[in-house]
Amino acid sequence: MTHDTELPMGSRPIENVAGHWVLARMGKKVLRPGGRELTERMLGAVPVEGRDVVELAPGLGLTARAILDLGPASYTGVDENPEAATIVRSVVEPFGRVVNGDAAHTGLPDDSADVIVGEAMLTMQTDRGKSAIIGEACRVLRPGGHYAIHELGLKPDDVSDDIKNTVRVDLARAIKVNARPLTLVEWRAALEAHGLEVVFAGTAPMALLDPKRVVADEGVRGALRMIVNVLRNRRARARVLGMRRVFRTHRDTLTAVAMVARRPLGDDTEKENEE
Ligand SMILES: C[S@@+](CC[C@H](N)C(=O)[O-])C[C@H]1O[C@@H](n2cnc3c(N)ncnc32)[C@H](O)[C@@H]1O
Repeated sequence: MTHDTELPMGSRPIENVAGHWVLARMGKKVLRPGGRELTERMLGAVPVEGRDVVELAPGLGLTARAILDLGPASYTGVDENPEAATIVRSVVEPFGRVVNGDAAHTGLPDDSADVIVGEAMLTMQTDRGKSAIIGEACRVLRPGGHYAIHELGLKPDDVSDDIKNTVRVDLARAIKVNARPLTLVEWRAALEAHGLEVVFAGTAPMALLDPKRVVADEGVRGALRMIVNVLRNRRARARVLGMRRVFRTHRDTLTAVAMVARRPLGDDTEKENEE
C-alpha cells in the first residue's frame, strides 16, 4: 500500500502538519500509541464476527483491514480527512464503505451498529469534543453493542495538574495538535458519563517511536523504509526527532490505553436476562 502522492498532509509546510501525518509521510502506517499489539488485545475483547461495525477515524486503514479479517457483517468508516477516507476506501471496498465526515456527526442511523471502534482520535479533542463523539457513538450503537477506544493516557491516576499541563503543552508543540490525554480513571469516567459500562481495559507502553515498537508495528522492511525517508528529509527529521524527544521526556507519565465499553440493553431487558 503506497500512498505517496495522496497522503493527507494538505498544502501546509511540514513544520505545521499534524504529527501523525508527518509519520505517515515517512512511511509509518500504525498511528496509535499502543501499536498493533494493543489494538489486537482491544479487538479480542469485542465480538466482531457477523456484526455491523463502524470505525471512527480509520486513518490509513490498518485496523479496518484487521476488522475485515474478523468477518463483520458490514464495515463503515468515518474520517474527517478526505484523503484518509479515500485511502481507507481502497482498503475496504467493495465490502465496506467510508464516509468523509466528523465523528461527532456521522449521519449514521440510530441503533445501527453493534461495534464502534475509534483509535487515536478522542485524545485530540477537547473535553466537549470527546463527549460529543462518545455521545454520537452511543446514539449509533444498538443496545448491547460495544464501543472500543485506543487512546493516549496519563499515569498515575493522581498525576498532578502541573505535570498534566506540561505534558499537554509539550505534546501540542511537538505534534501540532492539541492533544489532551486523560488518566485511566478519566477515560473510564468519560465513557461512563454516557451510561456505558467498561468491560475491558488494557494498557501498553507509549512507545510509538521506539525502535523495537516500530519494527513490531511496521516490520523490518517498513522500519528500514522509514529510516531512509527520515534520513533523506531534513525538515521531516526535525519533526520526528522533536516528537520522539517529547515522548521520551514524558515516558513515565504517558501510556497507551484501550477500553471496551458496552451500551446497556436497557433496564427491562437487563432484568429479563438476569431472571
Ligand atoms: C492519529 S490518526 C489515527 C488513525 C488510525 N485510527 C490509527 O490508529 O492508525 C487520527 C485520525 O483521526 C481522524 N480524525 C480526527 N478527528 C476526527 C473527527 N472529529 N472525525 C473524524 N475523524 C477524525 C484524522 O483524520 C486521522 O485519520
